[in-house]
Formats: sequence, C-alpha cells, structure tokens
Amino acid sequence: MLNYDLSDEQNMLRQTVRDFAEKEIKPVRLELDRKEEFSYDLTKKMAALGFFGVTCPQEYGGQGLDYLSYILVVEELARVDGCQAATVAAENSLGIGPLANFGSEAQKQKYLPPLCQEGKLWGFGLTEPGAGSDASNSKTNAVIKDGQWVINGSKIFITNAANDLTAGCTVQAITGDLGNGKKEISCIIVEQGTKGFTSKAMKNKMTWRSSNTAELYYDDVTVPEENLLGNRGEGFKQMMKTLDSGRLAIAAMGLGGAQGAYEEALAYAKERQAFGKSVSSFQVNAFKLADCAVEIEAARNLLYKACWLKDQGRPFGKEAAMAKLYTSEVFHRVANHAVQLHGGYGLMEEYPVAKFYRDQKLLEIGEGTSEIQRLVIARHIGC
Ligand code: CAA
Repeated sequence: MLNYDLSDEQNMLRQTVRDFAEKEIKPVRLELDRKEEFSYDLTKKMAALGFFGVTCPQEYGGQGLDYLSYILVVEELARVDGCQAATVAAENSLGIGPLANFGSEAQKQKYLPPLCQEGKLWGFGLTEPGAGSDASNSKTNAVIKDGQWVINGSKIFITNAANDLTAGCTVQAITGDLGNGKKEISCIIVEQGTKGFTSKAMKNKMTWRSSNTAELYYDDVTVPEENLLGNRGEGFKQMMKTLDSGRLAIAAMGLGGAQGAYEEALAYAKERQAFGKSVSSFQVNAFKLADCAVEIEAARNLLYKACWLKDQGRPFGKEAAMAKLYTSEVFHRVANHAVQLHGGYGLMEEYPVAKFYRDQKLLEIGEGTSEIQRLVIARHIGC
C-alpha cells in the first residue's frame, strides 16, 4: 500500500530544522558567504541539535534514525543555505558513514562519539589532484614498515577536513599491486595532528564559500597497522558504497536548494510590479513558476522513493544516482529561472537567488559529476 505521509517524528524533525535554519542561518548566510567564513558557531549548534550522526546507532552517540529523516535534515538546511547543509551532509555521509559501516568495534567506540556529539568533523579522503571521476586511479600510497602504515600522497576538495573541529580523515591509498594490472586499494584512518599530515583550507571558491574545503598532504605519515578500516584491499568498494548513500544527501541538497530558490522567486514575482500588475500574473512568468513547482515535486518523489528503498534494505544505487542527477539539474533550472525573474536584482549578491545560482553548480560536480551519475545509471540498466 502506498503512503506518502511522513511520520509525526519526521514532521517534527523537519519543523525543528526549518525553525533553526530560518532563525539562526538565514540572518547570517549571505555575510558568511561574502567573507568566505566557516561558522564554528552554527556548526556547534547543529551538532548540539543532533544533526551529526543522524542515522548512526545511539550506542555510538548518534540518533539512530532512518535515512529519510537524515535526508529531511539536509533538505531543510539546503532550503536556506547549501553551505551549512554541506557541513552536515559531508559529516554524516562521508565522515561518520565509512567509520560506522566498516570500522571495527574499537574504532567505532573511539571515533564516533566525538563526531556525533561534540561537533568534531571527519574528512573523506578520496579525490586527488589527478584522480576525480577516475577515483581508482589514485596515487596516494601506503606501505607497512615495522608494523605501521607509512602514507605518502595528497588529496583535494575534501569537505570539513581543515578547520579547528577536524579530528581526522579516512584516506584511500594504494597498498599493493594485485599483479593483474589492478592495484590493491585500502582505506586508512589518519588522525589530525599526526606527524607529516598537513591540511590547507581552499579559498576563492565560486560556490559553497562558507563550507570548509581542504587540500591534504601526507608526507611519510605513520599510523598504527590497526588504523586500517575494514579489510585490506576493500578500500575502493568501501568508498563506492559510501558514495551510493552520500548521493542521496547531495540529492537532498539539490531538492532543498531548488525549493529555497523557488520560494524566493515566487515571493518576489508576486510583490514586484511591472506594467501596472505583479509580474507573477504574466503568463510567461507564471508558467516558469509552474514548471519549477512540477519539477520540485517530481524530484522530491524520486529522492524519497530512493530513501525508502534504502530504509527497506533494498538495492538503491541506481535510484540514488537518478535522484542525485535529477535534483541537481532541477536546481540548475530553478535557480536560473529565479535569477531571471528577479531581473537585474538577481545579479546582486544581496539577493539570495544569486547565492543559490552559484551554490547550485557544485551539485552537478561534487560526489560524482552528472556524467558519472549517467554512467552509473547506464551500467545499472545494462548498457
Ligand atoms: N558498491 C560496491 N562496489 C562497487 C561499486 C558500488 N557502488 N561500484 C563499483 N564497485 C566495485 C566493482 O564491483 C569492482 O569490484 P571488482 O574489482 O571486485 O570487480 C570495483 O569496485 C571496481 O569497479 P569499476 O570497475 O566499476 O570501477 P571504475 O574504475 O570503472 O569506476 C566509477 C567506477 C563509477 C566511475 C567510480 O570511479 C566513481 O564513482 N567515480 C566518481 C567518484 C566520485 O564520486 N568522487 C567524488 C568524491 S567526493 C570527495 O571526494 C570530496 C568531498 O568531501 C565532497
């Protein structure tokens, strides 16, 4: 039987996040963006409200909620500010996710509570300067020497990985040669402050300007052998599984952002007068807004269905890629219409639609470009 109602708990959670985003984030989002400033204050408040570790089991400090609840949190944050949504999405999907899903009991007990409860952040070290879409082509390597991993290499575009709250990073590294032309890839935990591990925040971004994005450098970084995450040689699959789930959160950012841009456009079009009436009453504009409403509704259904599949324990990889692809591209069209409807004012940074327009672009690139989503979907449908 189909049921489109959210539970009372999910509705309450959505309202809590919406109230927080309206009251705490909205007044400062444009200023943070202009100054390209990561907000420690908002990050700590979001952690205190339980937005970190939403699906992580309670025994490790998380909320133990279903995946759709997590997606509602990200959607509501993104409706107001993609940057705060990015902090939360990267923390849950990419920071906490691999540790919770593949970590040993000892690793989970050590690393998860500070991330879920104290607002500490954790990076996902996959992308490298020469390996983005071609994620298995990384150069960072790790060898065992005297019972310890010695890591050398670098990573780039890593969210949450270079600020005062960062506690560490999971790094994908080449740990051997399988002899059949393939490399052995493993994931290793590296704590902040380990000798030889340095990070640098990336500046002058067009998009997500108040989210923290890092370059990471590993120069003979030495960590205990037990910092291996899961089994040796399973690192790439761990990363791919992490991205399957992570794409749902990026899709939530697309959906929330589209919703936010649409609401701005609708309100402005109703208020703005031209030729003696509100511009929303011109059919050319009314039809644009109607198209936005249709696409947002379709995007929401696609995303929530993919979350439902995941929450049922069913395969969801194809639907996650579809939702990520579609919501990012809906956000693209909606943000474009929203700026167009604002006319010249849409080009001014004091109007939030300008920020929505810039923040949107990341979603067609980050956590797998739109082209990679099409490739994943094409493989799923047997092309
Ligand atoms: N789940 C589990 N296993 C998977 C998998 C999945 N979703 N996808 C692939 N695998 C397995 C395959 O089964 C295969 O296993 P075997 O070797 O045992 O056969 C192995 O992984 C290799 O798979 P492929 O041959 O399909 O790998 P590929 O090299 O062709 O790459 C790809 C596939 C889909 C293009 C992949 O490289 C990819 O997703 N690329 C995009 C990466 C991406 O999204 N990067 C952004 C990361 S975000 C970030 O880093 C920064 C941040 O903080 C936001």
